[in-house]
Amino acid sequence: MEVVSEIRALRERREAMRGSVGLVPTMGNLHHGHLALVREARAQCANVVATIFVNPTQFAPNEDFASYPRTLAQDMEQLEGAHVDVVFAPEAAEMYPRGREGLTMVSVPALADTLCGAARPGHFHGVATVVAKLLHLARPHRAFFGEKDWQQLAIIQAMARDLDMATQIVGVPTVRASDGLALSSRNQYLTPGERDRAALIYSKLCDIRDAIDGGEGDYAGLEAHASRDLATAGFKVDYVAVRDAERLVTPDRHTQSLRILAAARLGRARLIDNVGASVAGS
Ligand code: PAJ
Repeated sequence: MEVVSEIRALRERREAMRGSVGLVPTMGNLHHGHLALVREARAQCANVVATIFVNPTQFAPNEDFASYPRTLAQDMEQLEGAHVDVVFAPEAAEMYPRGREGLTMVSVPALADTLCGAARPGHFHGVATVVAKLLHLARPHRAFFGEKDWQQLAIIQAMARDLDMATQIVGVPTVRASDGLALSSRNQYLTPGERDRAALIYSKLCDIRDAIDGGEGDYAGLEAHASRDLATAGFKVDYVAVRDAERLVTPDRHTQSLRILAAARLGRARLIDNVGASVAGS
């Protein structure tokens, strides 16, 4: 495994690759969710490039950029063990040599201002911009993203489609702890007591899915009920929402599949999760 921190070096390694290239972008502090993406890339592509970059442009000033867990040495061991070929781990000055002021940004307005985008203004512009840069640098045939961040995946898919990018965006199912909590680097912000309650988000999403599968069509009622239960358990609920899985709008007659998404704070951690559901009657 080769580790490079300069754009020039990444481009050189990419030039030398023969056969298909898979890209796995991450912010490091790797867990089994990230490693599932690497495994999928390894299974589908001849060469695997992983990136580790805590991207400043996707954090608002009041967010956890400074305290975001950075565990580069352990991350490298895990990527080596997962047979990654090249790791790109740049400094911010390498990615943004002119700083953030006046930076060309990629925005996907139809999908970026709702759900997590409403609570985190500008977040998805930062995500789309850094992912566009990484796709241009690594020129992968396929890039792998977790369904855990469903809105992010939808935005990256729309960006790649709208900008005619040659990379196929591949979604990978969410990896969960045994109680159902979606693995996340931010779970370590939870106290032991909070950790015991955290899987309630997933179980409430599953309750909504089961109700819809059983023919319930009052989505607003289901959302309100789950929000109330989470609030009672001590969560500060940002949203619980039944949406069109691709367009992220309230389901309408064009909706082909549903996604049930939630975001809530528990102590210091902002937790997000989502599950799929079929449209009633389909
Ligand atoms: P990060 O939070 O490190 O996640 C990197 C990738 O791992 C994302 O595609 C995310 O969806 C996926 N992932 C995280 N937890 C997962 C889980 N439990 N199961 C499956 N996949 C999981 O997401 C980002 O970084 C950044 O926004 C990034 C795309 C790298 C741009 O900076």
